[in-house]
Amino acid sequence: MQGSVDNKMENQKTVLITGCAGFIGSHVAEQLLKRGDIVIGVDEVNDYYDIKQKEENLNILNKYENFKFHKLDLADFDKIKEIFQNNNVERIGHLAARAGVRPSIENPFLYEHSNIKATLNLLELAKEYKIENFVLTSSSSVYGNCKEVPFKEDFNVDFPISPYAATKKSTELLAYTYHHLHGLNVNVIRPFTIYGPRGRPDMAPFLFPMWISQGKAIKKFGDGTTTRDYTYIDDFVKGFISAIDTQLGYEIFNLGNSTPVSLNKFIKTIEEIVGKKAEINQLPMQPGDVEVTYADTSKAERLLGYKPSVKIEEGLNLFWYWYKSFYLNNKHITSKK
Ligand SMILES: NC(=O)c1ccc[n+]([C@@H]2O[C@H](COP(=O)([O-])OP(=O)(O)OC[C@H]3O[C@@H](n4cnc5c(N)ncnc54)[C@H](O)[C@@H]3O)[C@@H](O)[C@H]2O)c1
Repeated sequence: MQGSVDNKMENQKTVLITGCAGFIGSHVAEQLLKRGDIVIGVDEVNDYYDIKQKEENLNILNKYENFKFHKLDLADFDKIKEIFQNNNVERIGHLAARAGVRPSIENPFLYEHSNIKATLNLLELAKEYKIENFVLTSSSSVYGNCKEVPFKEDFNVDFPISPYAATKKSTELLAYTYHHLHGLNVNVIRPFTIYGPRGRPDMAPFLFPMWISQGKAIKKFGDGTTTRDYTYIDDFVKGFISAIDTQLGYEIFNLGNSTPVSLNKFIKTIEEIVGKKAEINQLPMQPGDVEVTYADTSKAERLLGYKPSVKIEEGLNLFWYWYKSFYLNNKHITSKK
């Protein structure tokens, strides 16, 4: 059923997926390839975490003949333009970014480069090459320390509390401008703490099971009452692909689970899955961290048919199953940054 990059089949779309070596990008690219689309993947494969994990992600995608990969920095406009010159890109799923709140406080320039400049390059090329749909990945962190819950897409998000969040909000504004001036169809996605197999090794849903199983103390910031709206990767990917398929002008969507989980409950659930009690290294709340994330997903449900279904216990179990088999088979990969 799969067409090669040179022989296009009917109904087959050519989709540019940025950040395809990363956690979410690799899952989105894989699902598009499975349904028969042509995927042009771009990633600079940076060392924010062990690049061997990213190489393993690329190995999965390279098994599909309709996958074509370019190892490039998206901030390099001329090189990215060549991709558009040489391929009939129809849709873009833009997932590449410098992620992580705390490192953005230490090195904001990196975030300006990979989040703002890279996105502006893609928007400019999307305009020039008349791309039919552009999906931009923003973040739930744009809601900052918003007190009203659940978070709705039309809340005022003018008060980001980290450089990371500020760059994400900036890209939403740039994308709106390209919609307004050039009629570009843009769906902005605000993900809420995505976790699961191939997860990001700097995030709690990866670090906590690993530390608890190794008998290492987990860093617990605050008293455990902070909450996160953990969202399982497969639920998220369905919503993201629906956004790639749906042209709506300019819309913003929360993709979360709409079920916030406290840090205390999160730790207890992992203890049960791993079968070990956690050692706790109690620390104060970190600057830039938010107290609550909680998505109102009714808009995504209405316009994208989004319906997350994986509960935290099930999702963490699926992660744990992957983690054990992955690290057992790939002892050369470290989960440290
Ligand atoms: N994982 C989450 O919970 C979460 C939450 C909110 C938002 N997001 C957003 O979702 C997207 C994907 O996140 P992820 O968790 O998969 O992160 P990830 O770090 O695993 O993947 C991002 C990828 O982008 C690549 N990249 C970064 N800068 C680049 C550049 N200048 N040129 C080319 N490639 C570059 C990296 O090499 C990496 O492989 C990001 O935009 C992130 O901000 C993720």
